[in-house]
Amino acid sequence: MSYPTKHALETPTLLSRHQGDPAVKTLEGWRGVGGYETLRHAAGMAPDDITGIVRDSGLRGRGGAGFPTGLKWSFMPKDDGKPHYLCCNADESEPGAFKDREIIRWTPHLLIEGCLIAARAIRAGHVYIYVRGEFFQETVPLTDAVTEAYEAGIIGKNVMGTGWDCDLTVHFGAGAYIAGEETGLMNSLMGNRAEPWAKPPFPAQAGAFGMPTTVNNVETLATVPMIVDGGAQWYRQWGTEKSPGTKLWSCSGHLVNPGNYEFELGVPLSKIIFDVCGGAPGGKKIKAVIPGGSSTALLAGDELDCDTTYEGLQEAGSSLGTASPIVMDEDTDIVAAMRRIAQFYAHESCGQCVQCREGTSWVVQILQRIEAGDGKPEDIGTLYDLCEQMTGRTICVLADSVVFPLKSSLDKFRHEYEAKMTRSPMVAAGAAG
Ligand SMILES: Cc1cc2nc3c(=O)[nH]c(=O)nc-3n(C[C@H](O)[C@H](O)[C@H](O)COP(=O)(O)O)c2cc1C
Ligand code: SF4
Repeated sequence: MSYPTKHALETPTLLSRHQGDPAVKTLEGWRGVGGYETLRHAAGMAPDDITGIVRDSGLRGRGGAGFPTGLKWSFMPKDDGKPHYLCCNADESEPGAFKDREIIRWTPHLLIEGCLIAARAIRAGHVYIYVRGEFFQETVPLTDAVTEAYEAGIIGKNVMGTGWDCDLTVHFGAGAYIAGEETGLMNSLMGNRAEPWAKPPFPAQAGAFGMPTTVNNVETLATVPMIVDGGAQWYRQWGTEKSPGTKLWSCSGHLVNPGNYEFELGVPLSKIIFDVCGGAPGGKKIKAVIPGGSSTALLAGDELDCDTTYEGLQEAGSSLGTASPIVMDEDTDIVAAMRRIAQFYAHESCGQCVQCREGTSWVVQILQRIEAGDGKPEDIGTLYDLCEQMTGRTICVLADSVVFPLKSSLDKFRHEYEAKMTRSPMVAAGAAG
């Protein structure tokens, strides 16, 4: 497949360029644009050579943490004689994110191709695509594409006549946020409750079915064929040294033009929000943006001139996460917004860790009473204490995911919390006493 060069594109569309074209959903259509030629080539390559290209490209995992993909693959054992698995994480559970489902819906063969190339690199003989059960519309094209690819000898025994065997199964989850966490996902895949486990063991040591496993996000895997085809330096035309390439951005909230967009990593966040998405409807000011999906720290409206790289958003005090900015205009009630986010996490906590199970529901209770004008004088201090207790102490980072937006909102919009507190008869009584 021939991929565009930087000069040919003002706005790069590497991942998204076939989205919206129903013709490429079919095997014939995908082959018509050069699809599966990279797989044919990669199936004859040495696994470590594939890993080397992906490592040199600097691709970082698109599931939220930004872990270098080639490095992750290199953790898989080489001559252990055990079955290896690749799990494609298609749970897409982060509030604000809606980009993986579009890859699945429009370019299912691209995802299959990426999965098989990654499987070759990590010496896996079986790929599981773990899909959120509610994605019915999206998974029909995916399951159709898998059937077509099996029938054409692209998946299964003797992949494309290369003598290499690799199976692929689409597995449906039941729509729990925690099933997107990689160890929760593998537990769910094995028929257990989707409860994360404490690491070690890491997935590359003992993952699905106790065997060496790599878990990668849909967007990560869909990027792999073009990197293997175009080469590491070609991919590095876009982005920065530490954040190479392009990225899909799911932009939602108070925007004139919400939607999915592909950008070179590094464009200013303000350009995405104002120039492309048109700012807030009615010319309203933007009060805050949660840039990377609901589990990242909130930026105030005057902090949007940061670069959209992993390092740029970290410097700005937040993180790139799943690149899913949720925009809140000047009329947004920050306390109500945080209460709603906290309710989501309290509902989705798997309950194994006290700090998460109890902490998330206490946060909800406190925010509810502040919002209702019944806040107690000590409530803001208690919320800060809870943030402290819920950080870095649990099996997975769901508890931390509440803390990032909550603590940043307390730091930046404390006056909104206090304004509701001063309406409270309990605070008034406390002040009088
Ligand atoms: C609570 C929680 C939910 C997650 N949900 C998802 C998800 O829906 N999709 C995803 O790709 N990664 C999700 N992740 C991240 C995965 O654990 C894992 O890091 C990722 O799938 C690895 O893929 P990558 O290296 O390609 O980014 C979640 C993590 C946590 C802690
Ligand atoms: S942090 Fe929460 S979701 Fe994660 S394992 Fe502990 S209780 Fe479960």
